Amino acid sequence: MTILPVPHTAIIVVAAGSGTRLGASAPKAFVGIDARSVLRHALDGVFAATPAQVVVVAPEGLEGDAETELREAAGERAELGRVVTGGATRQQSVAAGLAALWGDVETVLVHDAARALTPPTQIDAVAAAVTAEVGVIPALPVVDTLKKVVDGAVVAAVDRSELAAAQTPQGFPRALLEAAYAAARDNGIEYTDDAALFAAAGHVVRHIPGSERAFKITTPADLERARHLLGAVAAATGIPRVGIGTDVHAFGGDGNLWLAGLEWVGERPLSGHSDGDAVSHAIVDALLGAAGLGDIGEHFGTSHPEYAGAHADVFLARTRALLSEAGFEIGNVSVQFQGNRPRFSPRRAEAEGVLSAVLGAPVSVTATTTDRLGFPGRGEGIAVTAIATVLPTGRTEG
Ligand code: CTP
Ligand code: MG
Repeated sequence: MTILPVPHTAIIVVAAGSGTRLGASAPKAFVGIDARSVLRHALDGVFAATPAQVVVVAPEGLEGDAETELREAAGERAELGRVVTGGATRQQSVAAGLAALWGDVETVLVHDAARALTPPTQIDAVAAAVTAEVGVIPALPVVDTLKKVVDGAVVAAVDRSELAAAQTPQGFPRALLEAAYAAARDNGIEYTDDAALFAAAGHVVRHIPGSERAFKITTPADLERARHLLGAVAAATGIPRVGIGTDVHAFGGDGNLWLAGLEWVGERPLSGHSDGDAVSHAIVDALLGAAGLGDIGEHFGTSHPEYAGAHADVFLARTRALLSEAGFEIGNVSVQFQGNRPRFSPRRAEAEGVLSAVLGAPVSVTATTTDRLGFPGRGEGIAVTAIATVLPTGRTEG
């Protein structure tokens, strides 16, 4: 283990929010951007900056996962990091982080894990600008034309030259920030950010230029933006990537079977949120996995009612577009399903033609029975495995 000098700066990375507006199945900090989570990317940036104590504030119950991310991001600097449990509000989470600071720390930076792609230079610039009295925030000029609206009516124009959009990390002299936090706790006020809390205690806050890359991942569109920014890097490496997807559906419901992009008249259907086409769903996961773009639940799950009842062409065309936007084209797909029905070989060429056309790449489909073993062998459902390769194009869109 390397022994590092005790730093006089600490960075509190708040990651304890639930990410309501993102609406993913996991708390926001643990959602994958590519192969790495929001928190991991944020910590990669933090550990690329000048060494500092790093306190990660994690959601209750996910401290162990945060520890793992911290250890992997920290590398040789692991001894500088620790994880604490967050609170019900961001302000309470920051307070929990403040309580874990080492005695030698004089400057505290508070950083949103959700600003996952913040450049390390921004972190260093904030730390360097903090003085014993003055707090510092990075901010961007406001580009939109702003209006004040009341009850749906535009009541006034707002002069944007007087406004700035605040980012993180926000840096403060430790002693004054701790006192300001204690005062906020005593008077029970929740402030919009640390700078507001610090200013309310009578102190000065200055701003330095922020960065477009330090945007906060709040909505699904923000997550897409982060993926595009990282996809450009992945694409530039030029290395083909491989992905795997599996899916299982039980037979059930009314109507005809949909499988491998075809309707099978007179065959029992598979149940599912969409048409139950397990072959196309496994392909979607293999493709998204290969490109590091999350999974089918995230893009097409029950939170996307527009895909209820949709067929393979819709899923696969959308998946192809997602890959293309992120800078990938499809190399090939190989997919196999296990099941007694339908008898596949008579329509193999037709299915491969449909799937290949919508993906713009060769798709081969094979089928097998399982010697009457397991649920496919008992005729209860179908199990599918797909493998896909994707090729970086060196171009990203959007
Ligand atoms: N945060 C926190 N503890 C809370 C609430 C928020 O540590 N109780 C952190 C989040 O993890 C995030 C940062 O504060 O890194 C900025 O908050 P925001 O973007 O609002 O994240 P969430 O609160 O998770 O998202 P939402 O408001 O959509 O639920
Ligand atoms: Mg929030």
